[in-house]
Amino acid sequence: MASVTSLTATVHQRLAAALTAALPETADADPLLRRSDRADFQANGILALAKKAKANPRDLATQVVGGIVTGDVIKDIEVSGPGFLNITITDKAITENLASRATDPAGRLGVPFTDQPGTTVVDYAQPNVAKEMHVGHLRSAVIGDAVVQMLEFVGETVVRRHHIGDWGTQFGMLIQYLDEHPHELDHEDAQVTGEEAMSNLDRLYKAARAHFDSDEEFKTRARRRVVDLQAGDPKTLAAWQKFVDESKIYFFSVFEKLDMEIRDPDIVGESGYNDMLDETCRLLEESGVAVRSEGALCVFFDDIKGPDGNLVPLIVKKSDGGYGYAATDLSAIRDRVFNLKASKIVYVVDARQSLHFKMVFETARRAGWLNGDTKAEQLAFGTVLGKDGKPFKTREGETVRLVDLLDEAVDRASAVVREKAQDLSEEEIAERGAQVGIGAVKYADLSTSANRDYKFDLDQMVSLNGDTSVYLQYAYARIQSILRKAGDVRPVAHPELELAPAERQLGLHADRFAETVAEAAEEYAPHKLTAYLYQLASLYTTFYAECPVLKADTPAQVENRLFLCDITARTLHQGMALLGIRTPERL
Ligand code: ARG
Repeated sequence: MASVTSLTATVHQRLAAALTAALPETADADPLLRRSDRADFQANGILALAKKAKANPRDLATQVVGGIVTGDVIKDIEVSGPGFLNITITDKAITENLASRATDPAGRLGVPFTDQPGTTVVDYAQPNVAKEMHVGHLRSAVIGDAVVQMLEFVGETVVRRHHIGDWGTQFGMLIQYLDEHPHELDHEDAQVTGEEAMSNLDRLYKAARAHFDSDEEFKTRARRRVVDLQAGDPKTLAAWQKFVDESKIYFFSVFEKLDMEIRDPDIVGESGYNDMLDETCRLLEESGVAVRSEGALCVFFDDIKGPDGNLVPLIVKKSDGGYGYAATDLSAIRDRVFNLKASKIVYVVDARQSLHFKMVFETARRAGWLNGDTKAEQLAFGTVLGKDGKPFKTREGETVRLVDLLDEAVDRASAVVREKAQDLSEEEIAERGAQVGIGAVKYADLSTSANRDYKFDLDQMVSLNGDTSVYLQYAYARIQSILRKAGDVRPVAHPELELAPAERQLGLHADRFAETVAEAAEEYAPHKLTAYLYQLASLYTTFYAECPVLKADTPAQVENRLFLCDITARTLHQGMALLGIRTPERL
């Protein structure tokens, strides 16, 4: 037993039972229970149910009230308006419920595991080899990581897949150039940093590109290299591997800066499906899902047309025999369904690729690879905008390097930490600055629903007031400082005590943690968790202003308030951890 029945669930069950007793013919009657300002909860479902049963709503409501036992959990239940129910919870039940969360032996704060866990493949954090990472890659990594953590926390089996761009015709050019300038990727010492790796790759890319654009013979040699690469020529593959390895040094350095665990075996890039491409095409062609059109192997869709009104196909194999992005993604689906046994596949990818995924998923459905047992969906995210509301660019109009952005966030955050710091050493300021700065970037990304665009505004992100991670981190640190000051006095729940209004609000909200995590995980919606945590911190702020903790009236009240502080802190810590954000003990 690790899970704790929340007060919402208990009240819901009781209302549903009373409703069924009053209306035996209505199965699964939903009382539509909501948190409310007037009482603790309000049930809004009676009106509709009465209408359906042709009963008087107020009479039905009164009958339901008559069927509810009050005292232990429900303190008060009354009919209001045309047939709403207002419900108040006992203080005792609030404290007791939190106490069972606090003592959950598994340390999960009473969050249950899902009833029917499956296997979810999450495709996220997928940068491209030999290319600089940008804000789009940031979003995929940050959102994907939160989704992975939340799903794992509720007991889902998660397979992480980093579908990096490590294949394609551009490698012909790079490999050919490296072949002609063989020492360009040599390292003098083994400890090359991510920055160095990226600047090596960048230099090489630019040089290769310049050759490719100006030298027709080089172009021909580069094209031949593509053929060699696809044919698996060992020397060509070895050169290709150098690019991949160099890029991984860079990727890992960025992920480390992002304070994010990315594991090498989970990196299965486009090249990982090479062996499957032929068969994928054969299966599609044999089943008639794909057809030959102007030499290419294509899948057509009635509803997908270009601006000229002609159908736009998904090209699985080009007329020159080459495979593109679609063939790889279709093969990846086969791998994920048949080898990894996925029940769900989630793609955390830019909304600008939605048409691609729509076509890929529909193709896989027609081929029978996706069906009722396995669902694929794109968790599409919007564009990161600059302060001016336009897609985020440097002043010169270039794409912003992710690393520069993260460094700046950390600098700004360090300034904030330094200003507020009371007893922190320089080393601590640097460490906290990173935790606050990276947290700020992640939180800003996660706190708007993924499909919306958001403005990358560092001033706002590191602001101490408002819906920011810093605000939550300070709330957490403030609680830790109170707990330290309490010395030998420990948090103890006292269900016998009456609660002040701010204590009740805080307690009722803390009790909803499990439901929030379940919902956010189920819907791949980290923003529901951030909204919950922000509200928790805000309620804590009110509580802190209204209810003295260490100077409370009685020793029992001191202990009980410390208990409220402690459960709030643990909830903040756990919630933030699921989002990949640290909660420093001191700030
Ligand atoms: N590498 C791609 C990009 O940078 C994202 C890959 C998304 N995943 C996939 N299975 N196609 O845009």
